[in-house]
Amino acid sequence: MNKDFKFVPKHYAARTHEKMQEVLMDTAAIGPSIHYYMIRGDMKNNRGNNITVWEPGVVGKEYIKTYGHYHVGKLDETYKFISGIGIALLQKLAVDENGNMIKDVVEEFKTIPVKVGDELFIPATYGHLVANTGLDFLVTSDDSPVNFEEVNPASLPGHADYELVKQMRGFAYYVVEHDGKPALVKNKLYKEVRKADLGGLRVI
Ligand SMILES: [Fe+2]
Repeated sequence: MNKDFKFVPKHYAARTHEKMQEVLMDTAAIGPSIHYYMIRGDMKNNRGNNITVWEPGVVGKEYIKTYGHYHVGKLDETYKFISGIGIALLQKLAVDENGNMIKDVVEEFKTIPVKVGDELFIPATYGHLVANTGLDFLVTSDDSPVNFEEVNPASLPGHADYELVKQMRGFAYYVVEHDGKPALVKNKLYKEVRKADLGGLRVI
């Protein structure tokens, strides 16, 4: 090992059920104590990408998912799917005359089935989350940069804005299990979804 190697502090975080209740379809549903695990790479020092591992299962009817966030600034991201299957949700909010995002009006919504071996490019302006619809762990690698000088870089990195998702209690649709397969349930807090690709999933 290179003699200059330094251990990266605060590189691991877990997203708890308590935190996820902010964005669940059914906030009273029983879930695992941890929904997903995050290990952040120190890309500034060329030490690899971030790894996320999802628990399998449903919370109420909703598949275990990441919290979802928008990026701050012009930051694209690419996810590589290392194991499992899932459904990625992308949504771009409408903006007002000052260019600020309108939290409850979705300009474009996309539902994208993903599986091991896939790569998913997420353009900067699209909020994103992934639901694990398989029977086993879902594992991804992504290239979003993490600044370890921040207060809470592993759990809440500064390049990600979670607040709009929190206020709307999730994205415009929830991914749920229905008759043993994925379907969508609309989140009624959103006023309008102008354009939607629902990936062939039923809305129930
Ligand atoms: Fe991201």
